[in-house]
Amino acid sequence: MYEDLKDKVFIVTGASQGIGRAIAIRLGKEKCKVIVNYANENTKTLADEVVATVEEAGGQAVTCQGDVSKVDTAKKLVDTAISHFGTLHGIVNNAGVQSEYPSEILPINEWDRIIDINLRGVFLGCQEAIKYLLKHNIEGSIVNITSVHQKISRPNYVHYASSKGGLKMLTETLAREYANKGIRVNSVAPGAIETPINEEFLNDPITTKEIINKIPKRKIGTPEEIAAPVTWLLSQEASYVTGATIYADGGMVLY
Ligand code: BGC
Repeated sequence: MYEDLKDKVFIVTGASQGIGRAIAIRLGKEKCKVIVNYANENTKTLADEVVATVEEAGGQAVTCQGDVSKVDTAKKLVDTAISHFGTLHGIVNNAGVQSEYPSEILPINEWDRIIDINLRGVFLGCQEAIKYLLKHNIEGSIVNITSVHQKISRPNYVHYASSKGGLKMLTETLAREYANKGIRVNSVAPGAIETPINEEFLNDPITTKEIINKIPKRKIGTPEEIAAPVTWLLSQEASYVTGATIYADGGMVLY
């Protein structure tokens, strides 16, 4: 538990399932107030369940629907924080998507979709949050969820790896730009985690074994193992940490 997180207000994008869900629930345990973003009607019920779980854990929460790649969504998320909880202390830009295509046949609209959600969406979230924090002189914390693929190249996922590589520079640039305003910007880079995005390989024992062989710790990670470093970065325990990427990957990036 991080005492300073009690009653703090954070937006978590893509929080209806997977890593985002675990982050929202962990923040509930820290007695935070959480804006649980979800993309569309398909995930509304899941988002409602996350809100209930956050509240059972001792926090407060509200859902907010929106595609993070749209300019209006970031504004809507910040407005929801203000109207429900009166303030904002940071954002966890977690929403992300991926798809597999050999590069020579990758449709350009699929390139755009992945870059728009994974990179433009994170920028929009950072921009709106930073605008609010600066205006109200709040020492905030921003955490972007990147990937080991901000560093490890990924054949057949050039759009995804490019978005995560861009996210690394986005994080470092914003960290440097706002450090003297009391706003910290960091990243957590997960490796292979048990989430819906990986459902296909998790259901295939042969692929799972191949992936495990690339992880020094020889284990697929859990969403809670990502939520832990995110929570630390949001807390004052990390007050001198900005522009950093914490790889939470069982050593995958070292392979
Ligand atoms: C991807 C996963 C993949 C992991 C390790 C993540 O960024 O979303 O699908 O298993 O990287 O390669």
